[in-house]
Amino acid sequence: MIPDTLTPANDSDGISDGLREHLLVVNEGSENGGVGDHVKIRIRNLTNQILRGISVDIPKGKIVGIIGPSGGGKSTTLRALNRLWEPPAGSVFLDGQDIVNLDVLGLRRKVGMLFQIPVLFEGTVADNIRYGPQLRGKKLSDDEVHKLLSLADLDSSFFSKIGSELSVGQAQRVALARTLANAPEVLLLDEPTSALDPISTENIEDVLVRLKTRWGLTIVMVSHSIKQIQRIADIVCLLVNGEIVEILPPNKLSEAKHPMALKFLELSS
Ligand SMILES: Nc1ncnc2c1ncn2[C@@H]1O[C@H](COP(=O)(O)OP(=O)(O)OP(=O)(O)O)[C@@H](O)[C@H]1O
Ligand SMILES: [Mg+2]
Repeated sequence: MIPDTLTPANDSDGISDGLREHLLVVNEGSENGGVGDHVKIRIRNLTNQILRGISVDIPKGKIVGIIGPSGGGKSTTLRALNRLWEPPAGSVFLDGQDIVNLDVLGLRRKVGMLFQIPVLFEGTVADNIRYGPQLRGKKLSDDEVHKLLSLADLDSSFFSKIGSELSVGQAQRVALARTLANAPEVLLLDEPTSALDPISTENIEDVLVRLKTRWGLTIVMVSHSIKQIQRIADIVCLLVNGEIVEILPPNKLSEAKHPMALKFLELSS
């Protein structure tokens, strides 16, 4: 545990000191804004049967949106970043280190992932949230679990609820709290709100923006909703047929030039 002096003075949705310490370290140096910031994940010529040489820098402490037509390789790209699909050596670097040289479980703790449909384990919400730290021999206190719930915008009544009794939107927030319990530095989100109603979607979006601004998390989010990307992303990658054809700020999407990108944008708006 670290001294309380690292606690932000006005913190009201705080998390455990251990997690806070970790996240504050992540936040350092991410305050200047702009895409030229420190690169958290560097992707270079990432290639497989689907991907045709993806190269992009994911800036630290930003939300990067990935959009594009179905089957283009969005999920494949995301899965390469925490080795759910093993990328070729020399393709993906986390803080400058080739991820194929990192311990895979350690990598997945640092680079957490949420999917379209949350899958909770048996047991209570608290059991779910405690799962990751427990694997490493650390039992989160009740207080720490409550703080993680609050960080994922769930009130304390969820603590002892059974996972299987939750709505999809609630379960997605529990899955988020469970991922945050590992104190990740990067969150990978594969259409995390596409199964949710507009209110649950807004809740999750608010949480993501808060995680970025307050805790410096780097977020890569695949979404089919251009409006959602425009609401929360700092930068947008258009991925078409295994290639990133445009990288634009969200308010400049209409300036995309690639014909397939234009067609996609026209059909989705
Ligand atoms: N495990 C797999 N084995 C073989 N082919 C796969 C596998 N996973 C994905 N593919 C193929 O790779 C291509 C890209 O898939 P991917 O899931 O990355 O696309 P996507 O952009 O995420 O699409 P969507 O918007 O529909 O989710 C598709 O043609 C898909 O059929
Ligand atoms: Mg997909």
